[in-house]
Amino acid sequence: MVTTTVFLNRTEKQDVLTVTPPTTGLALRGQIQVPGDKSISHRSLMLGAIAQGTTQIQGLLLGEDPRSTAACFRAMGAKISDLNTELVTVEGIGLGQLQEPIDILDAGNSGTTIRLMMGLLASHPGRYFTVTGDASLRSRPMSRVIKPLQQMGAQIWHRQGGFAPLAVQGQSLKPIHYQSPIASAQVKSCILLAGLMTEGETTVTEPALSRDHSERMLRAFGAHLTVDPETCSVTVTGGAPLQGQSVIVPGDISSAAFWLVAGAIVPGSDLTIQNVGVNPTRTGILEALAAMEADITLENPREVAGEPVADLRVRSSSLKACTIAGDLIPRLIDEIPILAVAAAMAKGTTVIRDAAELRVKESDRLAVMAAQLTRMGATLTELPDGLEITGGSPLVGAEVDSFTDHRIAMSLAIAALVARGNTTIQRAEAAAISYPDFVGTLQTVMG
Ligand code: S3P
Repeated sequence: MVTTTVFLNRTEKQDVLTVTPPTTGLALRGQIQVPGDKSISHRSLMLGAIAQGTTQIQGLLLGEDPRSTAACFRAMGAKISDLNTELVTVEGIGLGQLQEPIDILDAGNSGTTIRLMMGLLASHPGRYFTVTGDASLRSRPMSRVIKPLQQMGAQIWHRQGGFAPLAVQGQSLKPIHYQSPIASAQVKSCILLAGLMTEGETTVTEPALSRDHSERMLRAFGAHLTVDPETCSVTVTGGAPLQGQSVIVPGDISSAAFWLVAGAIVPGSDLTIQNVGVNPTRTGILEALAAMEADITLENPREVAGEPVADLRVRSSSLKACTIAGDLIPRLIDEIPILAVAAAMAKGTTVIRDAAELRVKESDRLAVMAAQLTRMGATLTELPDGLEITGGSPLVGAEVDSFTDHRIAMSLAIAALVARGNTTIQRAEAAAISYPDFVGTLQTVMG
């Protein structure tokens, strides 16, 4: 009999997750589902709030991040039903109708909440807003949205260096053509949302294509949008009212990524992850894992509410090293921590470059992954903009820390499955930001 333990010690201060794989015979099998896509969940709540009429959302992620978005928009007058129900409804208040909240808006840990919301707040003339977040969010750069919004005429105050808390005095903005120095869906979406209320054409051009969920959903809600894929440009023409829609949120490929890598590296595994969003701007993980010779098949491809969806089947195989860089980076930006775990188990040296953005995510993901995987016996070097990981050193259980970053917590739990002995992950509660039942699914797949 295979005995495996996953033990969650929950205290008032933090969760400590202990993962003890069996010495032999662990194989991950079965069919699982992952929670709703985080990016689509945020956008469905926001667009629902500023549309006319009712938006119905099926499959909304119940993680901490969308809860922060819902709380902010409730504070500005949108009627959002109990999130813990199968179908969440948002009674929209209409474009330009967000009310001035009577308290500080709290975006929690969520970069998407604060950055996208800023585009809306800045374009509400005559209203005042203040926004903050947790310690991680208050240390993340906001200049990337403050600067283009200021070019549009926004009035924004911030801490020295462009950090939250932020204060906004809404204005009638003027349209711009913004050449973004970074491929960021949060920056692009912020400007497009500001453009909704701005007379004329507001354009954003990115150096490489970032996720396009905003474009898809804005169109579905009735915004006037044109996209030029050749130049990675999107233009919104302001003034068109949005109409509430039915949104079906697919499973999050960024959450599925943990099981794709787990299934690939734990020998004898055969896992199917059902109903995963496979929007081409998000499937860089599938390309990277294919280059590493992972055995992943895409089954039952279909389109659901304007987003491509499929079931993903992964069977274990020996992985080989690859290079991950360039335009692929924005298409797998959130999957680099778990790809580092795959690389630690692959033959040869994997090089990840052009990923300096990871230093300003929920944690400095390059530094944290390098330090934590080193504790587990992996051979890796931290580069200014990436990681160099030489696979094949046997992993050993260790005491590691999520640094309050959800994707780090989950990546380390997957690494623990192929490590000898106990791995103890401090501050594992971070997983609930994007994957509230991660530990439950881990227990299920371990059998
Ligand atoms: C997101 C965009 C990405 C991603 C984040 C979600 C979004 O951030 O890392 O988890 O929903 O727009 P950047 O736009 O900063 O790359």
